[in-house]
Amino acid sequence: MFHVHHGDALAVLPTITTGSADLVLTDPPYNSGGRTNAERTAQGARGKYVTGTAGHDLADFAGDNRDQRSYTRWLALVLIECLRISRPGASALVFCDWRQLPATSDALQAAGWTWRGIIPWRKPISRPQRDGFRRECEYVLWGSNGQPYRHAEPIYLPGLVQGSQPRGRGRVHITQKPVDILRQLVQVCPPAGVVLDPFAGSGSTGVAAVLEGRSFVGSEITEHYAAIARERIAAAVEQEGSA
Ligand SMILES: C[S@@+](CC[C@H](N)C(=O)[O-])C[C@H]1O[C@@H](n2cnc3c(N)ncnc32)[C@H](O)[C@@H]1O
Repeated sequence: MFHVHHGDALAVLPTITTGSADLVLTDPPYNSGGRTNAERTAQGARGKYVTGTAGHDLADFAGDNRDQRSYTRWLALVLIECLRISRPGASALVFCDWRQLPATSDALQAAGWTWRGIIPWRKPISRPQRDGFRRECEYVLWGSNGQPYRHAEPIYLPGLVQGSQPRGRGRVHITQKPVDILRQLVQVCPPAGVVLDPFAGSGSTGVAAVLEGRSFVGSEITEHYAAIARERIAAAVEQEGSA
């Protein structure tokens, strides 16, 4: 079962029932890129995250022009609503890059989630930095709504996930996350639980949730991507049904 709302997370989330989600797994628009606030706010997502050599022409997306203070405040507002929607014991897993790590952990905690840790996502294909360190990780911040859910069968999950961003025909969104990585993260959700992603993009979290036997609720502000998300998740439902 899945539902992808087309709309602004801050308008959609208040319509979702309190205590109805078992995991918040989300990849917000990072509002990152560039070294200064001026560089981050002056361009759209495409301008910041797509290099001239990328070899694709994927659609731009909205909501990536906030400065640091407004990003922290805005993300906290979204995560407050996510906390209300989540059941006690639910986890929140929020992606960020190195620039937004402090802002994201502030927002998570300001929203009332208990901060539990950081799971680095290592990308084997990444650019070397001349005279410096390779930027080969993004990060998944882990918080919980009170004490984390205790699985009837205990689970022991890895503290690091690895995998490359989809390429070629499998790439449909500028900042698409790999389904295999999301499938590993979804394991923290109780079996047959509900996964919530307020920034669904092309629906990768929904695909992972469905393939792992969970339900999915998401919102996406860019109509083009909301439609792609629905198509991809529906295909995953079919794949699961015929498995
Ligand atoms: C980093 S992308 C998510 C990509 C996704 N994980 C995937 O694999 O396709 C963030 C998404 O959030 C959407 N977005 C931005 N602001 C939003 C808002 N206020 N409410 C809902 N969605 C929003 C953007 O359109 C974008 O598709």
